[in-house]
Amino acid sequence: MLADKKILLAVCGSIAAYKAAFFVRLLKKEAAEVKVIMTENAKDFITPLTLATLSKNPVYSGYFEKNSGEWHNHVELGLWADLMIVAPLSANTLGKMANGICDNLLLAVYQSAKCSVLVAPAMDLDMYKHPGIQSNLEKLTSYGNEIIEAKDGELASGLFGQGRMAEPEELLEIVKKRVTTGSRLKGKKVLITSGPTYEAIDPVRFIGNYSSGKMGSAIAKIFKQFGASVTVISGPAHHFASEVENIHVASAREMLNETKKRYNNADIVIFSAAVSDYRPSKPSDQKIKKEDGVNSLTIELIKNPDIAAEMGTKKENQIHIGFALETQNEESNAKQKLKNKNFDLIVLNSLNDQGAGFQGTTNKVTFFDKNNKEVKFELKNKTDVAKDIVSYVIENFL
Ligand code: C5P
Repeated sequence: MLADKKILLAVCGSIAAYKAAFFVRLLKKEAAEVKVIMTENAKDFITPLTLATLSKNPVYSGYFEKNSGEWHNHVELGLWADLMIVAPLSANTLGKMANGICDNLLLAVYQSAKCSVLVAPAMDLDMYKHPGIQSNLEKLTSYGNEIIEAKDGELASGLFGQGRMAEPEELLEIVKKRVTTGSRLKGKKVLITSGPTYEAIDPVRFIGNYSSGKMGSAIAKIFKQFGASVTVISGPAHHFASEVENIHVASAREMLNETKKRYNNADIVIFSAAVSDYRPSKPSDQKIKKEDGVNSLTIELIKNPDIAAEMGTKKENQIHIGFALETQNEESNAKQKLKNKNFDLIVLNSLNDQGAGFQGTTNKVTFFDKNNKEVKFELKNKTDVAKDIVSYVIENFL
């Protein structure tokens, strides 16, 4: 399956480095061409000879061979690879990758690489949780790199928790998926609506909702990682994908206008915004003042345009994906919306499921597609939900 694919494996100093030997064997069994780079610290855990023998290629570590003086061209190595995977990724190398430091060959190759870069961190559970580590991982995500999350289990320290590097079999599956299907999104234009909308009551007040923009920005990041060109039209959210084009709007009507302008160019449109269904019919020009003796105030609301439904009637050779956030009759409501709004896929999340919905970092979703296919997922973080959505699009619609 990986015949003629060029995989560059970068190994850092971590006890999980022993898994690199198994991983190289699995890659070679799939007929991949494998080259290995090691940091000096990695050599304390596994020998270059082991990885050179298994990969059938010399292992690279420094900028040049001490004996012959032969120079290892980092730019060439970076350009040679169809995919680079750093496994295991240590906290030290992560910190350097995240901050543009370049004091060894691995880092120089990383900074020169034009291909997809995947990283599989391995560290102790408290290190993994540390805000410095997490913010560095977020930085790598923002550079378009894919993080293969560390797993829960027994760690070298004897402690139990999240920090184990993913097993070689899992790494292989991810690499295969990336190399064989990832290119299908190259050059595709993805348009995403995200976040809440704010509907003015007066110049200082609005009707809005709790949407944070986490789901929409996670989807944007993953599409970008897969080589798509991404534009997000976002309401006043807290989360944005800095690596993509962001168009900022406030109200549903502004969101509709901006969507209309870009819609014809898009191959894939994701409607993940939580759009207000109604807006005040006559927003006041001036701040509404509290009046003595006036104990109630009625604001008349009128219906907002339904962006997904309007675009659904214009759809041509495009993939439309919508969301349904429900509190009751979840499945039938979602299926109705799939039909009414002409979606190819609808992602249902129910507020009855703990950890699902607005603001949190996790979501629990079920997919319903236009071909009556249904896939239920476990509770997972929003980045992983975004990966499921992107994989589904690649495997079913492209
Ligand atoms: O009907 P409901 O609001 O539950 O539909 C949800 C789906 O429709 C989401 O994909 C949402 O982004 C989209 N939508 C929209 N414009 C609206 C309301 C919802 O695009 N006015």
